[in-house]
Amino acid sequence: IRCQSTSTKEPKTKRNLLDNASNLLTNFLSGGSIGSMPIAEGAVSDLFGKPLFFSLYDWFIEHGSVYKLAFGPKAFVVVSDPIVARHILRENAFSFDKGVLADILEPIMGKGLIPADLDTWKQRRRVIAPGFHALYLEAMVKVFTDCSERTTLKFEKLLDREHSHGGEAIELDLEAEFSSLALDIIGLGVFNYDFGSITKESPVIKAVYGTLFEAEHRSTFYIPYWKIPLARWVVPRQRKFQYDLKIINDCLDGLIRNAKESREEADVEKLQQRDYLNLKDASLLRFLVDMRGADVDDRQLRDDLMTMLVAGHETTAAVLTWAVFLLAQNPSKIRKAQAEIDSVLGQGRPTYDTIKKLEYIRLIVVESLRLYPQPPLLIRRSLKADVLPGGYKGDKDGYKIPAGTDIFISVYNLHRSPYFWDRPQEFIPERFLVQKESEGIEGWAGFDPSRSPGALYPNEIISDFAFLPFGGGPRKCVGDQFALLESTVALAMLLQKFDVELKGSPESVELVTGATIHTKNGLWCKLKKRSRGL
Ligand code: HEM
Repeated sequence: IRCQSTSTKEPKTKRNLLDNASNLLTNFLSGGSIGSMPIAEGAVSDLFGKPLFFSLYDWFIEHGSVYKLAFGPKAFVVVSDPIVARHILRENAFSFDKGVLADILEPIMGKGLIPADLDTWKQRRRVIAPGFHALYLEAMVKVFTDCSERTTLKFEKLLDREHSHGGEAIELDLEAEFSSLALDIIGLGVFNYDFGSITKESPVIKAVYGTLFEAEHRSTFYIPYWKIPLARWVVPRQRKFQYDLKIINDCLDGLIRNAKESREEADVEKLQQRDYLNLKDASLLRFLVDMRGADVDDRQLRDDLMTMLVAGHETTAAVLTWAVFLLAQNPSKIRKAQAEIDSVLGQGRPTYDTIKKLEYIRLIVVESLRLYPQPPLLIRRSLKADVLPGGYKGDKDGYKIPAGTDIFISVYNLHRSPYFWDRPQEFIPERFLVQKESEGIEGWAGFDPSRSPGALYPNEIISDFAFLPFGGGPRKCVGDQFALLESTVALAMLLQKFDVELKGSPESVELVTGATIHTKNGLWCKLKKRSRGL
């Protein structure tokens, strides 16, 4: 098993220095409070200007899978081990909160699932998670195919125009196109609102992008400037942010009002009988309002919708972006994928049932998530003193951590760990087909599909927390199946019609990270119509 290092950038790792410096300083100076954990010293300059991608991975190889990273008075624990990740995310999940992530996201998502306090989270998770049941997902596949078709039709029109001028291919920033596609899908799937962003611009779309941009900026900035008194009124960027937020909130409030006013007993019956395919509006909002009656608190509902809009948009767009980036460097894998699409779909659209037969496309999606996990780091802060277990090859006694310890579970490191993956830096969708034998590494039993019978996609249970694309434990992503099916449909429909090449070299595609790993200047590709009769 081998490895070379690649990249993640440290995303929302910045804690509120003002709030926490003294606590950390005490821990740091007292030295022993985090056991005998290896320490990686970072230069403060590593925090600015360039992503921490290479450093976090290199430090993992150098110091092991649990180490303390110290930047002067700032320190955090970096975890790249499945057993320790399982402890934090599942076994001892309620001894940790989201730390700085909640600080950043609370102004946008309010009491939505991601930043919510534990009591609110427990109550809302119980209500929202059942909304993502199998029949809802089946109804959503139609939304995915409708929106993907709008995208492919747009590309076909552009290509027709190009052909009429004697050209063969069009050049497109596919990252931007996937972002529009994912926005339209999340709008329809979560609150039955058609942003129509594939074909047009609107103030609401601009406001969504403005808000995401600000969230991203906050996540890579060290000082919580948005908390400075009066900043929201005085600083132009903050004023713009408040303005964008208001546009989205007004839009969501309107949709919630409308959903409540249009609540019909017939629809409730259909929902209760689970007759989803005959519902005009199968959205999650409809489910939340219809099943829970009119007593749902509007503000909470708005926070829930906003959370899902943000959580489900850029993440899925990023998966598609990196899937195409990886495929474009592997033309033989494109051909293999297209052969599968031709044999399963022919010229038809995917359905819930045919997705089950698109095995290779599904594996491309998960392999892309392995190499480019979104987000690359999961953020936690310990609420009480704890002992992190010894990892698969670490200190048997584990490490003591005090309350208030900031932790980054580096999913990126885990997914590229040389201890668990053969040729970890390579794009090999087929790897998930191989039932791996134990590699003789303590604590690692390899993939075991019987742990999660019937799962369409490999997950953290099958891999015993070595593969964590959607986190794990109680705070695991609620939209995982939605996102996986969406990505499978969109990718299949793209490759069904087009051949894709990168416009420049792979090295010219620079990575940056906020909440997700994305490109610096877009994923510029050449798109050609597939020659039929293959
Ligand atoms: C949480 C990834 C799509 C809604 C999470 C977490 C991850 C994740 C890793 C756990 C975060 C943590 O433990 O700190 C992804 C990826 C997606 C995706 C990679 C796309 C490929 C979606 C979609 C939705 C969604 C489509 C909604 C429709 C949520 C919510 C949470 C969450 C609400 C918070 C769950 C909780 O704390 O109870 N997601 N997600 N995500 N995701 Fe996703």
